Amino acid sequence: MIKQHQKLPPTIRWENHELFLLNQTKLPLEIIEEKQETIEQVWDSIKQLKVRGAPAIGIAGAYGLLLGIRHNTNLAPQSFLEELQKKATYLDRARPTAVNLHWALTRMVNVAKHLITECNTPLIYDHLVQEAEKIHQEDRQLCRKIGEHGVSLIQEGMGILTHCNAGALATSELGTALAPMYLAHQQDISFRVYADETRPLLQGARLTSWELQQAGIDVTLICDNMASHLMSQKLVDLIIVGTDRVAANGDVANKIGTLGVAILAKYFNIPFYVACPSSTIDLETATGKEITIEEREAEEVTHFGMRKTAPEEMNVRNPAFDVTPHHLVSGLITEKGIIPAPYQVNLKKTFLKESGLSRSRCVK
Ligand code: MRU
Repeated sequence: MIKQHQKLPPTIRWENHELFLLNQTKLPLEIIEEKQETIEQVWDSIKQLKVRGAPAIGIAGAYGLLLGIRHNTNLAPQSFLEELQKKATYLDRARPTAVNLHWALTRMVNVAKHLITECNTPLIYDHLVQEAEKIHQEDRQLCRKIGEHGVSLIQEGMGILTHCNAGALATSELGTALAPMYLAHQQDISFRVYADETRPLLQGARLTSWELQQAGIDVTLICDNMASHLMSQKLVDLIIVGTDRVAANGDVANKIGTLGVAILAKYFNIPFYVACPSSTIDLETATGKEITIEEREAEEVTHFGMRKTAPEEMNVRNPAFDVTPHHLVSGLITEKGIIPAPYQVNLKKTFLKESGLSRSRCVK
């Protein structure tokens, strides 16, 4: 456990069958944990980005599904399964780009499918609770392993740029892109992080710079359009970002603006790495073109914080993510090591057998 992290409240807390989410829309000014009473509330929390970041929405989705079916344990197993599938489909629609939500919900439904002939409904529910807790616990371990592999990229005196927030707040503990930085800091390697503010919702300014500062890491906040200037001044030696979905050919969907950073990295010859657990790798999606890009409310663009900054009736586009083509990616930092190109071959070789779907047995 990272000592410095004791100051950070957990993103997701599941205690005595109750779910609490840290409301990330209020950070860093207010630290508010909200108890989730219903699946509808969890859907809303995911949609509104109270809980956000690919792994975190997967974990929240698994627990949210439990809230949705906890009062259905009086149903016969088949009807319970049907209800579970219906509610999983509902939650899955909260956000379309990060594959972790779909992955975690599928994993939950599959547990029930495997147990349906062996277990009664209350027992199936107990197994579902265990599965959600397992998804949460596994994420902690995956992030640590990503950190252990990625730390080899960080050398004394480096400037490292990151975009959006792929840290503890976006996951269960260390984060993905930030995990190598936390471990490098523990090893007393000195480096500086440049955090892109990440318009429109400012995850870099509100979340990344805050969590790194809390951990005592040297972090400097920049506006998104300052990155090229810093690169031209040779202040950036390495870029690490997270991702919401990696397609089978290695194309990477991540927070809007990531593609621009990757193109700049190519121009300035700076290594551009993407960190992710296997739960973010989607071998069923052939290329980035097939990834659904979430389009969000116009107000996120026409307003800065609560203040309106655009004229009335302005046409707006607000894609929340973009796709970086695989040829701009220097490597994928995963729990299995740093995967190099060709991704089409190497991702399959490394991850194909890992469906992540446990074959549950009924344990009474
Ligand atoms: O819209 P958000 O804040 O959920 O977007 C999150 C990102 O794009 C992160 O960089 C990505 O999910 C990786 S999180 C480990």
